[in-house]
Parts: sequence; C-alpha cells; structure tokens
Amino acid sequence: MTTHRIPVIGGDGVGPEVIREGKKVIDAVSEVEGFDVEWVEYPHGADHYLGTGELISEDTLKELSAYKAIYLGALGDPRVEPGVLELGILLKTRFYFDQYVNLRPIKLLDGVWTPLKDKGPEDIDFTVVRENTEDFYIGIGGRSTKGTSKCQLELIRELYHVKFGLDVETDSDEIAYQIGVISKEGAERVIRYTFELAVKEGRTKVTCVDKANVITYMYGFWREAFRRVASDYPNIETDFNFVDAVTMWFVKNPEWYQMIVTPNLFGDIITDLGAMIQGGLGVAPGANINPGGTSMFEPIHGSAPKYKGMDRVNPIATIWSGALLLDSLGEAGAAGKIEKAIREVLREGKVRTYDLGGTSKTSEVGTAIADRVKTVEL
Ligand code: IPM
Ligand code: MN
Repeated sequence: MTTHRIPVIGGDGVGPEVIREGKKVIDAVSEVEGFDVEWVEYPHGADHYLGTGELISEDTLKELSAYKAIYLGALGDPRVEPGVLELGILLKTRFYFDQYVNLRPIKLLDGVWTPLKDKGPEDIDFTVVRENTEDFYIGIGGRSTKGTSKCQLELIRELYHVKFGLDVETDSDEIAYQIGVISKEGAERVIRYTFELAVKEGRTKVTCVDKANVITYMYGFWREAFRRVASDYPNIETDFNFVDAVTMWFVKNPEWYQMIVTPNLFGDIITDLGAMIQGGLGVAPGANINPGGTSMFEPIHGSAPKYKGMDRVNPIATIWSGALLLDSLGEAGAAGKIEKAIREVLREGKVRTYDLGGTSKTSEVGTAIADRVKTVEL
C-alpha cells in the first residue's frame, strides 16, 4: 500500500482547528481509496515564534523539501506585529520552494448563498491563477531622507538573480519606495501553466488581468509575455481586463470568466473578492504550486484569531485545499471524492457553520464530510 507522508503546519488562530478537520477527511478517504497517510507535524507559527524566536529555519525548509506537498492552516496572531509571521513563514516558504502558481478556484457550489443577485453555480465557475513569487511581493525597497543616499537591493530567485544599486537624491523630507519585479521567465511559466490547465480542464478562454495602462513597465511587460504564450494556444480565446474593471465584472458578469492569470498583488486582491462571490472565505480553497517541487495547500482565509478555539469557523476551505493536495500526490480519485462529499453536504444544507447560516460546529462539518467520503461514488 502506498504511504503518503504529509508535513502539516496548523499555524495560528483557527488554523489548527480547520487543519484537524482536513486531516480527518483525508484519513477517512484514505481508508476507502486504499492508501496510508502519515502526518508529520510542524509547530511553526506564533507560539513557536514567541517561545523560541524562530520563524522557520533553513534547516526546516531543507527538511521539508523532501516532500511534495505541505498542508497549512493559517498564520497571523495579534501578539505578533502584523507581517512578521506572514512574511517570515508564509511568504518565506512560498518563495523558498519557488511555488510560482497560486491556484484559487472560484466556484459557487449548490446550496451556498452568493451575495450576487440572480447568479448561480453555473455563473460562478472559474479559476484564478495568481503569480506567486514576483511583482510587489518580493519585499525590496527602502526609505530615504532629504539629501543623497545609496541603497543596494537584491532579489534572489532560483530562476534568476537581480541586483539594484540606487543613488537616491531628494529634497522631500522623506520618501519610501518599493520595487516590483516581473521577469520574462517568471511571467511566461505561470501563464503557460494557466493555458495548460485550461486545456486540461476543457476551458476555452483565458483572461489576462493587469494594469498595463498605468503601471506600464511591469504590467506592459506581463501583457507581452501573455501574448507570446497565448500564440502557442490558437484554440483558446484570450481576453484582457484591467484589474479595476475586473472587480466590477466579478460582481456584474462573473459568467464571463473561465481562467484568469494575473500578477501577485492583483491576484491577492481579486481572490478575496472571488471568495465572497463563491460564498465567503469559509469555502474558498487555495494551493501554492511548484509543479516539479514542493507545493503547499492552504485556504485563502487567514487565522481569524477572534474565533480561535471556538470550534465555530467553516473548515470547508481547508478540506477542499486538502482535496487539491491529494490530487497533486496523484490521488485523483480521493480528491474527487472529497470534492463530491463537500458538494453533497453543502447541497443538503443540514450541517453548516454560522457563515453559511447554520449552527454546526467546525468539527461537525468535518465529521459529516469525513463520513460522506466513505460512501460517495464518482
Ligand atoms: C493570501 C494572504 C497572504 C498574501 C498574506 C498573509 C501574506 O493574504 O494568501 O492571500 O498576501 O499572499
Ligand atoms: Mn490575500
């Protein structure tokens, strides 16, 4: 029997609670699908940081590189300054493993309420592919006060390195600047991934989302990369939207979209909106993918500290992310069963958490889906 060893980081806030349900469902489906799962627990998150001063070490990352998929709850805690855990653990891990695809399916499932009037599951069914390693997320920039100063900045990626040496001269009291980078290699690979996924899923259209009309250097470049890659897929229709307009069309005409590919920051923003139109963050899954390396699966939502330990939040986003994880390990049948079980439980509507208008607990939703995966048929 195959054994999948899966590292798991519950993390902060509600992270451990939703991960517990995700594991419950994966354990259940493994029994009927005939494989074993061995969970390898990692303590990283606020408690670990406050207790030891460590975010996530190079040694731990190296150790994790032995695995194909990491299961993550959420990171972020009010006791730690905003950004420390998010950058020091989450982004650190995404970048370390070069998880250049951030896959975020936006699908409204039957029985889930959307705030969009007159829209149903047939209208809200698309996937956002967010570039996950570049753009304004690379974390380089600085501040300069009046006068002249120098600044050396460096970006180290597996694909390439960049160094900037800046001579700054200003008569402003103080300026702050942040450098975004998009590389030809980085843009082309994620765009190609999107087109390949479109082909695989039988989609007929890919939309490029950017702001090439204003942020011309970076997103004009992105758009050129899109056109180059698109020319290899003559059977797939293409479309270009500016990101501001997309926030309007997601609300008015979500049925226009099948696949979207977009740089990191815009992808971050529009997928929170996407999550809302599919029924909320409680049901929005995500995956950070390096197709040839170590990927990481986590819900789009954060750690929701005010709900910590209450057994109250919706675990479906995390359970669904677990299905994406199993799919990446080659367990397509198990993944399909989890998705179907989620769909059935939601359609019946008897077991649902407060965000979907119910009164069930996190653990009850997990148990209902875990029971269901044992009987669903694909
Ligand atoms: C997300 C989150 C992260 C991001 C934060 C926590 C660093 O908002 O996964 O969308 O901005 O990517
Ligand atoms: Mn986000």
